[in-house]
Amino acid sequence: MSITANFIESNTDWKKCPNPKLPEYALIGRSNVGKSSLINMLTQRKSLAKISGTPGKTQLINHFIINNNFYLADLPGYGYAKVSKKSRAKFADFTMKFLENRTNLMCVFVLIDSRIKPQKIDLEFMEYCGIKEIPFVMCFTKADKLKPKELDKNIEEYKASMLEYWETLPEIFITSSKSKMGKDSIYEFINGTNTLFKH
Ligand code: GTP
Ligand code: MG
Repeated sequence: MSITANFIESNTDWKKCPNPKLPEYALIGRSNVGKSSLINMLTQRKSLAKISGTPGKTQLINHFIINNNFYLADLPGYGYAKVSKKSRAKFADFTMKFLENRTNLMCVFVLIDSRIKPQKIDLEFMEYCGIKEIPFVMCFTKADKLKPKELDKNIEEYKASMLEYWETLPEIFITSSKSKMGKDSIYEFINGTNTLFKH
């Protein structure tokens, strides 16, 4: 399957984002969790989205158009301690406005590093999505860095902590940008969800 993918533009203001005529999926998560890498994996491009060893690389809302059919939005990482409190608040503010107002947003992919224990910041972000009725799925990243048994254990632990707050679990994807694990399932999900898009 050949995939076309193009960067459109970067914004901080949701009102200036690309015309919401196509369904859209946004990627969010802690800095360094692998948002930009996942976009490159999904689009089969090496550096469509900028990757860096330095957390906090993506500080804008970056829009990509895929197969002239849907948008992916790469959002700034939350919880990055090294940027100033003031600029952290600013990210949170424009990101939340985007999430709450973007009419074509079908679903948010909440990326979670599969190696780490449930973090308050991620759990709170998903609670926020629930309260605002923003649909989301969970996407565990960097699965290649764990042995299958450890991976299973971590994901089971995560599910258990989700169930302390949620009655049902969201859809879960297990991914690796390195091995391309999860790619087909994510496309299947996006293709299915695209059919629900109303102009
Ligand atoms: P910010 O833009 O800073 O918020 O980070 P990000 O979430 O976009 O993370 P990015 O994609 O830049 O990846 C951060 C680091 O993790 C890079 O060094 C990537 O090469 C590495 N990485 C991301 N995904 C994977 C993965 O699936 N497997 C492995 N082994 N490394 C990964
Ligand atoms: Mg990034």
